[in-house]
Amino acid sequence: MAFVKLLNIVGARPQIIKASAISRAIRNNHSDRIREIILHTGQHYDKELSEIFFSELEIHRPEYNLSVGSARHGRQTSLIITGIEEVLLKEKPDCVLLYGDTNSTLAGAIATVKLRFPVIHVEAGLRSFNKTMPEEINRIVSDHSSTLLFAPTNAAFKNLMNEGFKPENSPPYTIDNPKIYLTGDIMYDNSLFYAEMAEKKKVSLLDRLGLVRDNFTLVTIHRESNTDNLTRLERILKTLRELAEEYKMPFVMPLHPRTAISLKTNLEKFYSELQRSEFIKITPPVSYLEMILLEKTSRMIITDSGGVQKESHFFRKPCIVLRKETEWIELVMNGTARLVDADPELIKKEFKGFSESQAMLEYPGFYGDGKTAEFILKEILLLFDNQ
Ligand code: UD1
Ligand code: UDP
Repeated sequence: MAFVKLLNIVGARPQIIKASAISRAIRNNHSDRIREIILHTGQHYDKELSEIFFSELEIHRPEYNLSVGSARHGRQTSLIITGIEEVLLKEKPDCVLLYGDTNSTLAGAIATVKLRFPVIHVEAGLRSFNKTMPEEINRIVSDHSSTLLFAPTNAAFKNLMNEGFKPENSPPYTIDNPKIYLTGDIMYDNSLFYAEMAEKKKVSLLDRLGLVRDNFTLVTIHRESNTDNLTRLERILKTLRELAEEYKMPFVMPLHPRTAISLKTNLEKFYSELQRSEFIKITPPVSYLEMILLEKTSRMIITDSGGVQKESHFFRKPCIVLRKETEWIELVMNGTARLVDADPELIKKEFKGFSESQAMLEYPGFYGDGKTAEFILKEILLLFDNQ
């Protein structure tokens, strides 16, 4: 039986959360066969976008932190590639685990594949079919650099087949003979694991924010297409303020720094008006446990986040998606998520629709059994046992 040295690469908030499911499964069940080394690229560095998740989700401190910080896409990606390459040469891991679609994922894939270490991609196959989104390019390159690809949904698995990946490939797997799997979603593992703990440990947050269960809307906005297009950003936020006032319902917004910076720098007057609005509650980003408590106790969710769209489903809440398209298409087909782009009339229509139909909505199990991390680790071990 092989012993596997695995380099677990994180960089942005959702990746630290996803990696915690893998770390937990290694710690609980595989520490005799897998040695995990964590590399943090430093793409996210604010305490509330990084450090908070390591302590709250009990992940060990990264062995490496590249501290690359924020920069334009090319510079950030190239700094991460350079940093990861050095670590790869020093550590010579058996494989590299990458999550999702950020610049850290892309850089990890390029550095790893060029040095011919196997790339393992968690959240493979997702596509928005919109290549103007930086994440879409990151996903395509990462998938096509991978040896094992874990697709979280049927749609993602089909996308991989449409791009030429063959489900019938047999071991030994290599980049030219990759293996694609249909798994569940690793975020679902975490939601199941932490939902009760969130209620126990964080319930005071509701009082602190002046919120009543099932009587507030949770909002997150951070996507480049919304934050960097000021007309869109202002239009969305004005519409949300109107809805909050019309329904006399608090709208809670844990703001990503990208959004806060864009508002402070470009829409200062509007931002201070918004902060003074009776029903708009703007907060700094919250911890993961706080976030899932808010999701669980909200009435409805409005977001442009991928992770939050799925979590709306895990916690059985209707979701209004501030985008033209989504990778989590099953939610839209199911009628529990609606794409509204940044269209005020559509946002209002769907909010009203969900307010009336909420009790009738159903939330089938699209995302596995909550044991996806375990499945992934078993397949990684098999990859090396079969060599
Ligand atoms: C990144 C990912 C996005 C993911 C998101 C999760 C890319 C291209 N985008 O977007 O796919 O959904 O993370 O949250 O990789 N900033 C801070 N403090 C931080 C980090 C960022 O203030 O700790 C600010 C900086 O002004 C920075 C901006 O946020 O320029 C954007 O950060 P960046 O990491 O480039 O992209 P995100 O929008 O966070
Ligand atoms: N999240 C959090 N605190 C917040 C906002 C989001 O812990 O203030 C969590 C959320 O529960 C989900 C993940 O961050 O698990 C989603 O990350 P994000 O929206 O930044 O990125 P995306 O999923 O769109 O890539």
